[in-house]
Amino acid sequence: MYEIDLSGKYGLILGVANKRSIAWAIAQQLSQAGARLALTYQDDRLKPKVAELAGQLPDTLLLPCDVSDDTQIEAVFAQIEKSFGRLDYLVHSVAFAPRQELEGAFVDTSRAGFRTALEVSAYSLLPLARGAQPLMERAGGGSLIAMTYLAAERAVPKYNVMGTAKAALEQIIRQLAYELGPSNIRVNGISAGPLNTLAARGIGGFSDILKLYPERAPLKRNITQQEVAQTALFLLSGLSSGITGEVVYVDAGYHIMGF
Ligand SMILES: NC(=O)c1ccc[n+]([C@@H]2O[C@H](COP(=O)([O-])OP(=O)(O)OC[C@H]3O[C@@H](n4cnc5c(N)ncnc54)[C@H](O)[C@@H]3O)[C@@H](O)[C@H]2O)c1
Repeated sequence: MYEIDLSGKYGLILGVANKRSIAWAIAQQLSQAGARLALTYQDDRLKPKVAELAGQLPDTLLLPCDVSDDTQIEAVFAQIEKSFGRLDYLVHSVAFAPRQELEGAFVDTSRAGFRTALEVSAYSLLPLARGAQPLMERAGGGSLIAMTYLAAERAVPKYNVMGTAKAALEQIIRQLAYELGPSNIRVNGISAGPLNTLAARGIGGFSDILKLYPERAPLKRNITQQEVAQTALFLLSGLSSGITGEVVYVDAGYHIMGF
Protein backbone atom coordinates (compact mmCIF):
# COMPACT_ATOMS: atom_id res chain seq x y z
CA MET A 1 0.00 0.00 0.00
CA TYR A 2 1.24 3.51 -0.83
CA GLU A 3 1.70 5.52 2.37
CA ILE A 4 0.60 9.15 2.33
CA ASP A 5 2.76 11.18 4.69
CA LEU A 6 1.36 14.59 5.61
CA SER A 7 3.72 15.35 8.47
CA GLY A 8 4.69 19.03 8.55
CA LYS A 9 1.39 19.94 6.85
CA TYR A 10 -1.47 21.96 8.32
CA GLY A 11 -5.19 21.64 7.65
CA LEU A 12 -8.35 23.54 8.51
CA ILE A 13 -11.56 21.51 8.72
CA LEU A 14 -15.01 23.08 8.95
CA GLY A 15 -18.12 21.00 9.55
CA VAL A 16 -17.55 18.66 12.48
CA ALA A 17 -20.75 18.41 14.51
CA ASN A 18 -20.48 14.88 15.93
CA LYS A 19 -18.82 11.52 15.33
CA ARG A 20 -21.00 10.82 12.29
CA SER A 21 -19.94 14.01 10.49
CA ILE A 22 -18.12 13.51 7.20
CA ALA A 23 -15.71 16.22 8.40
CA TRP A 24 -14.81 14.11 11.44
CA ALA A 25 -13.96 11.10 9.27
CA ILE A 26 -11.74 13.37 7.17
CA ALA A 27 -10.11 14.88 10.27
CA GLN A 28 -9.19 11.42 11.57
CA GLN A 29 -7.81 10.39 8.20
CA LEU A 30 -5.65 13.54 7.84
CA SER A 31 -4.43 13.32 11.41
CA GLN A 32 -3.46 9.66 11.00
CA ALA A 33 -1.48 10.68 7.92
CA GLY A 34 0.47 13.14 10.11
CA ALA A 35 -1.14 16.53 9.42
CA ARG A 36 -1.75 19.00 12.23
CA LEU A 37 -5.32 20.30 12.25
CA ALA A 38 -7.58 23.17 13.20
CA LEU A 39 -11.21 22.15 13.69
CA THR A 40 -14.04 24.66 13.89
CA TYR A 41 -17.42 24.44 15.58
CA GLN A 42 -20.51 26.34 14.47
CA ASP A 43 -21.71 27.61 17.83
CA ASP A 44 -21.61 27.10 21.61
CA ARG A 45 -24.25 24.39 21.37
CA LEU A 46 -21.89 22.20 19.35
CA LYS A 47 -18.67 23.24 21.11
CA PRO A 48 -18.55 20.51 23.83
CA LYS A 49 -19.04 17.68 21.31
CA VAL A 50 -16.49 19.05 18.84
CA ALA A 51 -14.03 19.79 21.67
CA GLU A 52 -14.33 16.19 22.85
CA LEU A 53 -13.58 14.89 19.34
CA ALA A 54 -10.76 17.40 18.75
CA GLY A 55 -9.22 16.18 22.01
CA GLN A 56 -8.83 12.72 20.46
CA LEU A 57 -6.36 14.05 17.87
CA PRO A 58 -2.88 15.31 18.78
CA ASP A 59 -2.23 19.03 19.06
CA THR A 60 -5.48 20.21 17.47
CA LEU A 61 -6.60 23.84 17.42
CA LEU A 62 -10.29 24.37 18.21
CA LEU A 63 -11.86 27.56 16.89
CA PRO A 64 -15.39 28.98 16.65
CA CYS A 65 -16.65 29.67 13.13
CA ASP A 66 -20.15 30.42 11.98
CA VAL A 67 -19.54 30.76 8.23
CA SER A 68 -22.23 33.44 7.92
CA ASP A 69 -20.07 35.75 10.05
CA ASP A 70 -17.09 37.37 8.28
CA THR A 71 -15.54 38.48 11.57
CA GLN A 72 -15.39 34.89 12.79
CA ILE A 73 -13.90 33.72 9.49
CA GLU A 74 -11.20 36.41 9.68
CA ALA A 75 -10.45 35.45 13.29
CA VAL A 76 -9.96 31.80 12.24
CA PHE A 77 -7.29 32.71 9.69
CA ALA A 78 -5.62 35.17 12.06
CA GLN A 79 -5.32 32.38 14.63
CA ILE A 80 -4.06 29.90 12.03
CA GLU A 81 -1.42 32.36 10.90
CA LYS A 82 -0.33 32.82 14.51
CA SER A 83 -0.31 29.12 15.43
CA PHE A 84 0.63 27.40 12.14
CA GLY A 85 2.19 30.19 10.05
CA ARG A 86 0.87 28.52 6.89
CA LEU A 87 -1.98 26.36 5.61
CA ASP A 88 -1.88 23.35 3.26
CA TYR A 89 -5.45 22.02 3.32
CA LEU A 90 -8.97 23.32 3.76
CA VAL A 91 -12.05 21.10 4.06
CA HIS A 92 -15.49 22.70 3.57
CA SER A 93 -18.08 20.27 4.92
CA VAL A 94 -20.82 22.72 5.82
CA ALA A 95 -24.40 23.04 4.62
CA PHE A 96 -27.67 24.40 5.94
CA ALA A 97 -31.18 25.22 4.74
CA PRO A 98 -34.11 26.16 6.97
CA ARG A 99 -36.22 23.08 7.68
CA GLN A 100 -39.38 24.43 6.02
CA GLU A 101 -37.51 24.81 2.72
CA LEU A 102 -36.81 21.06 2.70
CA GLU A 103 -40.36 20.03 3.57
CA GLY A 104 -42.66 21.97 1.30
CA ALA A 105 -42.81 22.49 -2.45
CA PHE A 106 -39.68 23.87 -4.13
CA VAL A 107 -41.85 26.42 -5.89
CA ASP A 108 -42.65 27.92 -2.47
CA THR A 109 -39.00 28.56 -1.56
CA SER A 110 -38.84 31.85 0.34
CA ARG A 111 -36.36 34.61 -0.46
CA ALA A 112 -34.97 34.39 3.05
CA GLY A 113 -34.62 30.59 2.88
CA PHE A 114 -32.92 30.79 -0.51
CA ARG A 115 -30.50 33.41 0.76
CA THR A 116 -29.61 31.43 3.89
CA ALA A 117 -29.12 28.13 2.06
CA LEU A 118 -26.94 29.68 -0.65
CA GLU A 119 -24.99 31.83 1.78
CA VAL A 120 -24.11 29.07 4.27
CA SER A 121 -23.75 26.17 1.84
CA ALA A 122 -22.13 27.82 -1.21
CA TYR A 123 -21.02 31.43 -0.75
CA SER A 124 -19.07 30.48 2.37
CA LEU A 125 -16.41 28.76 0.26
CA LEU A 126 -15.40 32.17 -1.16
CA PRO A 127 -14.42 33.98 2.07
CA LEU A 128 -12.78 30.76 3.26
CA ALA A 129 -10.70 30.50 0.08
CA ARG A 130 -9.87 34.21 0.39
CA GLY A 131 -8.59 33.67 3.92
CA ALA A 132 -6.69 30.52 2.96
CA GLN A 133 -5.01 31.89 -0.18
CA PRO A 134 -2.12 33.90 1.39
CA LEU A 135 -1.40 31.16 3.92
CA MET A 136 -1.37 28.51 1.19
CA GLU A 137 0.81 30.68 -1.04
CA ARG A 138 3.24 30.85 1.86
CA ALA A 139 3.26 27.03 1.85
CA GLY A 140 3.98 26.97 -1.90
CA GLY A 141 0.42 25.87 -2.73
CA GLY A 142 -2.49 24.06 -1.19
CA SER A 143 -5.62 22.03 -1.69
CA LEU A 144 -9.26 22.79 -0.86
CA ILE A 145 -12.16 20.38 -0.99
CA ALA A 146 -15.90 20.89 -0.53
CA MET A 147 -18.67 18.36 -0.05
CA THR A 148 -21.42 18.23 -2.65
CA TYR A 149 -24.29 15.98 -3.75
CA LEU A 150 -25.90 14.71 -6.95
CA ALA A 151 -28.86 17.10 -6.47
CA ALA A 152 -26.54 19.79 -7.90
CA GLU A 153 -27.20 18.34 -11.37
CA ARG A 154 -30.31 16.12 -11.06
CA ALA A 155 -33.77 16.74 -9.67
CA VAL A 156 -33.96 15.04 -6.29
CA PRO A 157 -37.31 15.03 -4.46
CA LYS A 158 -37.35 17.21 -1.30
CA TYR A 159 -33.78 18.36 -1.78
CA ASN A 160 -35.21 21.64 -3.08
CA VAL A 161 -33.06 24.73 -2.50
CA MET A 162 -30.19 22.60 -1.19
CA GLY A 163 -29.81 21.33 -4.76
CA THR A 164 -29.61 24.94 -5.94
CA ALA A 165 -26.94 25.59 -3.32
CA LYS A 166 -24.93 22.53 -4.39
CA ALA A 167 -25.11 23.62 -8.05
CA ALA A 168 -23.72 27.01 -7.00
CA LEU A 169 -21.05 25.32 -4.89
CA GLU A 170 -19.87 23.22 -7.84
CA GLN A 171 -19.60 26.30 -10.04
CA ILE A 172 -17.65 28.06 -7.27
CA ILE A 173 -15.28 25.07 -7.14
CA ARG A 174 -14.55 25.42 -10.88
CA GLN A 175 -14.22 29.21 -10.87
CA LEU A 176 -11.94 29.15 -7.83
CA ALA A 177 -9.86 26.35 -9.35
CA TYR A 178 -9.29 28.59 -12.36
CA GLU A 179 -8.42 31.63 -10.29
CA LEU A 180 -6.21 29.96 -7.67
CA GLY A 181 -4.48 27.55 -10.04
CA PRO A 182 -1.58 29.94 -10.76
CA SER A 183 -0.85 29.95 -6.99
CA ASN A 184 -0.67 26.13 -7.10
CA ILE A 185 -3.86 25.96 -5.06
CA ARG A 186 -6.24 23.19 -6.14
CA VAL A 187 -10.00 23.17 -5.52
CA ASN A 188 -12.11 20.03 -5.85
CA GLY A 189 -15.43 18.62 -4.73
CA ILE A 190 -16.52 15.23 -3.46
CA SER A 191 -20.05 14.21 -4.40
CA ALA A 192 -20.98 11.71 -1.70
CA GLY A 193 -23.76 9.17 -1.70
CA PRO A 194 -26.20 9.25 1.22
CA LEU A 195 -24.74 8.95 4.73
CA ASN A 196 -26.73 8.96 7.94
CA THR A 197 -25.61 12.26 9.50
CA LEU A 198 -27.27 15.15 11.29
CA ALA A 199 -27.55 17.22 8.10
CA ALA A 200 -28.90 14.30 6.05
CA ARG A 201 -31.66 13.62 8.56
CA GLY A 202 -33.02 17.08 7.80
CA ILE A 203 -33.85 15.97 4.23
CA GLY A 204 -37.40 14.56 3.93
CA GLY A 205 -37.46 10.94 2.75
CA PHE A 206 -33.75 10.49 3.48
CA SER A 207 -34.24 6.91 4.72
CA ASP A 208 -35.84 6.05 1.34
CA ILE A 209 -32.73 7.35 -0.46
CA LEU A 210 -30.56 5.17 1.80
CA LYS A 211 -32.61 2.13 0.73
CA LEU A 212 -32.54 3.04 -2.95
CA TYR A 213 -28.76 3.15 -3.40
CA PRO A 214 -28.07 -0.53 -2.60
CA GLU A 215 -30.79 -1.45 -5.11
CA ARG A 216 -29.57 0.76 -7.96
CA ALA A 217 -25.86 1.48 -7.47
CA PRO A 218 -23.39 -0.77 -9.33
CA LEU A 219 -21.66 -1.72 -6.07
CA LYS A 220 -25.06 -2.73 -4.57
CA ARG A 221 -24.45 -1.01 -1.26
CA ASN A 222 -24.21 2.33 0.46
CA ILE A 223 -20.92 4.07 1.07
CA THR A 224 -19.23 4.95 4.38
CA GLN A 225 -17.79 8.12 5.87
CA GLN A 226 -14.45 6.32 5.81
CA GLU A 227 -14.63 5.96 2.02
CA VAL A 228 -15.33 9.67 1.60
CA ALA A 229 -12.43 10.45 3.94
CA GLN A 230 -10.02 8.26 1.96
CA THR A 231 -10.96 10.14 -1.22
CA ALA A 232 -10.50 13.41 0.67
CA LEU A 233 -7.02 12.29 1.67
CA PHE A 234 -6.23 11.56 -1.97
CA LEU A 235 -7.60 14.91 -3.20
CA LEU A 236 -5.78 16.87 -0.51
CA SER A 237 -2.45 15.07 -0.85
CA GLY A 238 0.11 15.33 -3.61
CA LEU A 239 -1.15 12.06 -5.11
CA SER A 240 -3.81 14.15 -6.91
CA SER A 241 -1.43 16.98 -7.89
CA GLY A 242 -2.75 17.12 -11.47
CA ILE A 243 -6.44 17.35 -10.51
CA THR A 244 -8.31 20.61 -9.94
CA GLY A 245 -11.83 21.94 -10.55
CA GLU A 246 -13.13 18.36 -10.46
CA VAL A 247 -16.04 16.70 -8.69
CA VAL A 248 -15.24 13.13 -7.65
CA TYR A 249 -18.18 10.82 -6.92
CA VAL A 250 -17.99 8.57 -3.89
CA ASP A 251 -21.42 7.03 -4.36
CA ALA A 252 -20.90 3.33 -5.15
CA GLY A 253 -21.37 4.35 -8.80
CA TYR A 254 -25.00 5.43 -8.41
CA HIS A 255 -24.67 8.52 -10.63
CA ILE A 256 -23.69 6.57 -13.76
CA MET A 257 -27.01 4.74 -13.92
CA GLY A 258 -29.68 5.77 -16.42
CA PHE A 259 -32.32 3.85 -14.50
N1 LIG B 1 -24.75 13.02 4.59
C1 LIG B 1 -24.99 12.95 3.30
O1 LIG B 1 -25.77 12.10 2.84
C2 LIG B 1 -24.29 13.88 2.35
C3 LIG B 1 -24.22 13.54 1.00
C4 LIG B 1 -23.57 14.42 0.12
C5 LIG B 1 -23.03 15.60 0.61
N2 LIG B 1 -23.13 15.89 1.95
C6 LIG B 1 -22.55 17.15 2.41
O2 LIG B 1 -21.54 16.90 3.36
C7 LIG B 1 -21.35 18.06 4.15
C8 LIG B 1 -21.28 17.66 5.61
O3 LIG B 1 -22.53 17.17 6.05
P1 LIG B 1 -22.68 15.88 6.97
O4 LIG B 1 -23.54 14.94 6.22
O5 LIG B 1 -21.37 15.43 7.48
O6 LIG B 1 -23.60 16.41 8.17
P2 LIG B 1 -23.22 17.18 9.53
O7 LIG B 1 -24.53 17.66 10.07
O8 LIG B 1 -22.40 16.32 10.39
O9 LIG B 1 -22.33 18.40 9.02
C9 LIG B 1 -22.88 19.62 8.58
C10 LIG B 1 -22.09 20.70 9.27
O10 LIG B 1 -22.47 21.99 8.80
C11 LIG B 1 -22.28 22.86 9.90
N3 LIG B 1 -22.94 24.14 9.68
C12 LIG B 1 -24.22 24.40 9.32
N4 LIG B 1 -24.43 25.72 9.29
C13 LIG B 1 -23.25 26.33 9.61
C14 LIG B 1 -22.82 27.68 9.76
N5 LIG B 1 -23.64 28.71 9.58
N6 LIG B 1 -21.52 27.91 10.10
C15 LIG B 1 -20.66 26.89 10.30
N7 LIG B 1 -21.01 25.58 10.18
C16 LIG B 1 -22.30 25.33 9.85
C17 LIG B 1 -22.85 22.08 11.07
O11 LIG B 1 -22.42 22.61 12.31
C18 LIG B 1 -22.29 20.70 10.80
O12 LIG B 1 -21.05 20.56 11.44
C19 LIG B 1 -22.49 19.01 3.80
O13 LIG B 1 -22.02 19.95 2.84
C20 LIG B 1 -23.50 18.08 3.15
O14 LIG B 1 -24.38 18.74 2.27
C21 LIG B 1 -23.73 15.06 2.83
